[in-house]
Amino acid sequence: MRNPQLNAAGGLQHLLTIEGLPREILNEILDTAAPFTEVAEREVKKLPLLRGKSVFNLFFENSTRTRTTFEIAAKRLSADVINLNIGTSSASKGETLLDTVDNLCAMQADMFVVRHASSGAPFLIARHLAAMGYDHIHVINAGDGRHAHPTQGLLDMYTIRHYKRDFTRLSVAIVGDVLHSRVARSQIQALKTLGVPDLRVIGPKTLIPADAEGLGVRVFHDMRAGLKEVDVVMMLRLQNERMQGALLPSPQEFFKYYGLTADKLACARPDAIVMHPGPMNRGVEIDSAVADGPHAVILPQVTFGIAVRMAVMSMLAGG
Ligand code: CP
Repeated sequence: MRNPQLNAAGGLQHLLTIEGLPREILNEILDTAAPFTEVAEREVKKLPLLRGKSVFNLFFENSTRTRTTFEIAAKRLSADVINLNIGTSSASKGETLLDTVDNLCAMQADMFVVRHASSGAPFLIARHLAAMGYDHIHVINAGDGRHAHPTQGLLDMYTIRHYKRDFTRLSVAIVGDVLHSRVARSQIQALKTLGVPDLRVIGPKTLIPADAEGLGVRVFHDMRAGLKEVDVVMMLRLQNERMQGALLPSPQEFFKYYGLTADKLACARPDAIVMHPGPMNRGVEIDSAVADGPHAVILPQVTFGIAVRMAVMSMLAGG
């Protein structure tokens, strides 16, 4: 069966998940993003690739980085951007997701960027568009439930490639609440596809999926052992909004064992980079001295996110 996010020619029709995407497409996205980083240096920061296209940002969950960088990326590609305010939209009056989508299609939408608390919502929209014969409309998943956050995974890959060059020589550790994290799932799929030979997840038993080793990662519950000689440390936020019941004694206890401090970071390689998708909880998963320190590439991740989102949007609809 064809991957539902690829068209008959094997190109991207939608971006819903990194799972199942071939390495060539991941590399094409990263390669396409590279020249877009230079657009920001220009006096005129616009390219005409999406001129005349309408991009609808549908964020049913809060966001700072993803929503804003998608908007910047679409505007730099000369698209018209419509940010639907979900709180004041008819969704709050009981309109279904697909009825909302149908109405936006009637307004000649070309692309939907969707964040939703329910895993699978962007898939549902993509399937609905196919059933309606709207093959010219594209869907980008901007984070669905605990399922996937593909553009975050891709901008993380761009960041790693920028600082470390060759994925096939790296040791990478993902630390914290892997269980509830759509970011971790997308990162693991991307890192495996790009050939990282040593991929580790670190966290308490209550926050690591039971089938983690089946994903091709090594599991560590001792953070210092897990960080030993790694090149890349990818921290995760505690996803309190997705936790059911008490999975942790307290944030203070979590910080003691799994918070990234300079002392624990010293177990990694001396040139290790520290990443975090944001929003950060300082003093819970990361100490301020590390978040603001010389190993951190957390703000460059945000900047690279614009170029990566420009790449994805231009590959989908840029002709
Ligand atoms: N990394 C990320 O998805 O951040 P936002 O929730 O601010 O978009």
